Amino acid sequence: LNYNVSRERRYILEVLFNGLRRLEYRGYDSSGIALDADLPSCASPAAAPVYAGAPPLVFRQEGKIECLVRSVYSEVDEKDVNLDTAFNVHAAIAHTRWATHGVPAPRNSHPQSSGPGDEFLVVHNGIITNYEVLKETLIRHGFTFESDTDTEVIPKLAKFVFDKLHDEEGDVTFSQVVMEVMRQLEGAYALIFKSPHYPNELVACKQGSILILGVNELSGQNSGKLFHDVKALTANGKPKELFFSSDLCAIVEHTKNYLVIEDNEIVHIKDGSVSILKFDHDKEKPASVQRALSVLEMEVEQIKKGSYDHFMQKEIHEQPHSLTTTMRGRLKDSGVLLGGLKEYLKTIRRSRRVVFIGCGTSYNAALAARPFVEELTGIPVAMEVASDLLDRQGPIYREDTAVFVSQSGETADTLFALDYALENGALCVGITNTVGSTLSRRTHCGVHINAGCEIGVASTKAYTSQIVAMAMLALAVGSDQISTQARRQVIISGLSSLPSKASEVLKLDAEMKELASSLIDSESLLVFGRGYNYATALEGALKVKEVALMHSEGMLAGEMKHGPLALVDENLPIIVIATRDACFSKQQSVIQQLLSRKGRLIVMCSEGDASAVCPSGSCRVIKVPEVADCLQPVINIIPLQLLAYHLTVLRGFDVDQPRNLAKSVTTQ
Ligand code: G6P
Repeated sequence: LNYNVSRERRYILEVLFNGLRRLEYRGYDSSGIALDADLPSCASPAAAPVYAGAPPLVFRQEGKIECLVRSVYSEVDEKDVNLDTAFNVHAAIAHTRWATHGVPAPRNSHPQSSGPGDEFLVVHNGIITNYEVLKETLIRHGFTFESDTDTEVIPKLAKFVFDKLHDEEGDVTFSQVVMEVMRQLEGAYALIFKSPHYPNELVACKQGSILILGVNELSGQNSGKLFHDVKALTANGKPKELFFSSDLCAIVEHTKNYLVIEDNEIVHIKDGSVSILKFDHDKEKPASVQRALSVLEMEVEQIKKGSYDHFMQKEIHEQPHSLTTTMRGRLKDSGVLLGGLKEYLKTIRRSRRVVFIGCGTSYNAALAARPFVEELTGIPVAMEVASDLLDRQGPIYREDTAVFVSQSGETADTLFALDYALENGALCVGITNTVGSTLSRRTHCGVHINAGCEIGVASTKAYTSQIVAMAMLALAVGSDQISTQARRQVIISGLSSLPSKASEVLKLDAEMKELASSLIDSESLLVFGRGYNYATALEGALKVKEVALMHSEGMLAGEMKHGPLALVDENLPIIVIATRDACFSKQQSVIQQLLSRKGRLIVMCSEGDASAVCPSGSCRVIKVPEVADCLQPVINIIPLQLLAYHLTVLRGFDVDQPRNLAKSVTTQ
């Protein structure tokens, strides 16, 4: 490729594009980027600073990241934008969007601008709830708005504040401007500001939404290799790369040193050095704060596809390994050891209820855990979809243990429900895959599921690891009960056999592909489960719905004759989960009732049970290895994940980024 950009500029572009690719699961309907161009008149490019006042280059594009990449490079080529100079410091920003206010379109993409000259540019994750009031005020002050976003008020407010402070006080720092903007904003946000008034500077702040700072000190080999003659020199004179991101995945290939920015902190990067201020609504001046860096335990390989075609496929096949890492160091013959819960076990045992709260797949994982949590702890378990709990303002008591389940730890509905439970005095426990996430920081205690980074929008390995983490939670809480001791032993040995059983069930891959090809033209798919596998039915149907874009419903088999039976005919494919447990004989009669209505059945059963579930031989059978009944959902979901995956590929849809969805929905 022969782009009209220098190696150095191109490096900046590629860092940002790659970062966006890693964040694309957050949203992929449009994206944008802002970076500096040196003034064409600059005589000595090698020393060229970006001059105050020179407008940054801004590109915004509808569609996936690759559309932005193509558009940037084509503009650079066509218009011969002068990017072709070396530089010492460069501050650039980029964003990928999941539309909330305003359709996906370049004008609604970020960076949003203060207006002509792009004096202030902002990328935003979150929602500004008082944007309408702010917009009206700004319009009265002569601002005109081009987008339908809530975000646009932020750069315009920054411009308004900047002009005002400038007139009143003369010199004003970038962080002062941002602080005054923060005073006016309500809602949830993580923001990064860029301005030609402050070349080589960026300011970031947050309230609610997550924001991370990554620091890569370049020395020796690294600096030469990565930076050519690009040197962001810091106070201690070492070249440095600094990254802001809403996910560690986007920075792991550059550095493992990071800091999770706290609410109300303003992080100011100037000429490569960082200062952090704590903003207080009641105080005029922010206080300066010192923060230590943490070290990320994640390998770059986790965020690469390796030899697989898709992340979802890789993550399904990774389950023997992810289940192992979830249990590593925690499962003993005598019981389980969960460091993050140790201090709280007594309080949990005394609770009046356990309330499981989550969304989507995480909710389904909690539903799969409910039966064994009740069985092993004797505590009643209530299920709450996070948004519904909030809509109803349902009762949560001080005597409750509220268990929040979230792969990302950043789902807005779940986090608002967490605030609500904290306000009501419940003990709050987090089950999450994301170390450093808002959920893991705001709950009293919890369990990291350690499934490794999950990138495919449809959750797969996190689901099975969540169930296992909750099984360990149930074992730990119930460990004081003598009456369930034998049962606990069965579950412990069942848990240790899960990775090998998962490997076995993955051998059904080709069979599931073949099944998928027979279902490719179906309009709908029903999945019936009950007892331990009601959740499997819901989750299997959710997978098919979200990635294969095929209507699919998971149903309680016990409810079949109260309505769904009316749908049954010889065309509608129906999966019935009938593996061995206490409900087996009831599922056998469900199968008979469906067959007598000429139902087109696919039955999932334990190995050796084919003729027991379908004596007539007229159904298609999926045979899965048997484990302890309450852990069977961990195994049973895997063929359904494979089915959803193959259906999606065969139907020609995007596996890792299904239409309209985002992996982590960080807005309500
Ligand atoms: C989104 C995703 C789902 C996910 C749900 C909860 O809707 O598309 O796949 O299950 O959020 O996400 P969480 O990160 O809280 O588990």
